[in-house]
Amino acid sequence: MDYDKLSQKAIEAKKLAFPPYSNFRVGAALLTADDKLYLGCNIETSSYSLTICAERTAVFKAISEGERKFKAIAIASDAEDFISPCGACRQVMSDLCGDIDVIMLNSKGEKRIEKMSTLLPYAFSDKDLK
Ligand code: THU
Repeated sequence: MDYDKLSQKAIEAKKLAFPPYSNFRVGAALLTADDKLYLGCNIETSSYSLTICAERTAVFKAISEGERKFKAIAIASDAEDFISPCGACRQVMSDLCGDIDVIMLNSKGEKRIEKMSTLLPYAFSDKDLK
């Protein structure tokens, strides 16, 4: 799947976002090494800190289905600026997905693409536990 299509999937995933408190909708589309797709959206609860971001929803869905190898994730919001994943999601994506391409979209659908290792240099990982 090319990155244009993956980006469209992230925009579609955004429709299912559940952000009753922030009203900030985010969608993510995670592509596995063998071209399978996992979608995620942000989900907020009345106990605000128990919110989960779109990126982590997609990653945890994929890992829980047995996926272990990934190529890229596309992330979309309605903001004018390119969406920038939060620190918690950077750790989770780096740790569980490796050095994937991160495609950050703005509200016009334009892309900014960075390697995960650029977004989270010197990451803590399983290697540090050995
Ligand atoms: N959010 C995401 O889902 N992904 C990001 O990359 C940034 C922030 C969500 C969390 C919360 O539901 C809302 O956006 C506002 O922070």
